[in-house]
Amino acid sequence: MKLKKEYQEITKDILENENYITLKNDTHHGSTRYAHCKRVSYLSYLVSRLLKGNYNDAAVSGLLHDFFHGNTNSNENISYLNHPKVSVENAKKYFTINENEESIIETHMYHYALLKDTFPFINKRERVDHKLYKPKNKDGYIVCACDLAVSIYETLIFKVRYKTCLYILFTINLIK
Ligand SMILES: [Fe+2]
Ligand SMILES: [Fe+2]
Repeated sequence: MKLKKEYQEITKDILENENYITLKNDTHHGSTRYAHCKRVSYLSYLVSRLLKGNYNDAAVSGLLHDFFHGNTNSNENISYLNHPKVSVENAKKYFTINENEESIIETHMYHYALLKDTFPFINKRERVDHKLYKPKNKDGYIVCACDLAVSIYETLIFKVRYKTCLYILFTINLIK
């Protein structure tokens, strides 16, 4: 209970901001981007607290790490590799963030950059040097890892489950 209260104190100004609330209109891993960012933020806060990191910065940058609108595939200004920069721009436009929070948001796609550097055939249009995305400290790694974990969870829960239901309905219809 104490943790939940502390987390709410840290994040309430962002979560209640009218510009931030518009993230509820964007779909993200079968959920909303608002819900995704909140999950990443709360998990990052808990892990950072457990590992004695800067949990305040972890919670804030977790909320702001995907602060962009539109789709990474359909919008020319947003892509897998530049959406952290767009998120930093939006975060600075509507809130005051410190250097550490800016760095955590900018490097949160390290997992993707590392994967893409190892397997360059993934999304050939975008080249990447994973070292540019290397987190600068413990909380950078925490937010990056929590983003990956939450993304996998959301994909399994919201996307795969939805598709499975569709397949089941389709099969039942075929049998009928
Ligand atoms: Fe992201
Ligand atoms: Fe994310």
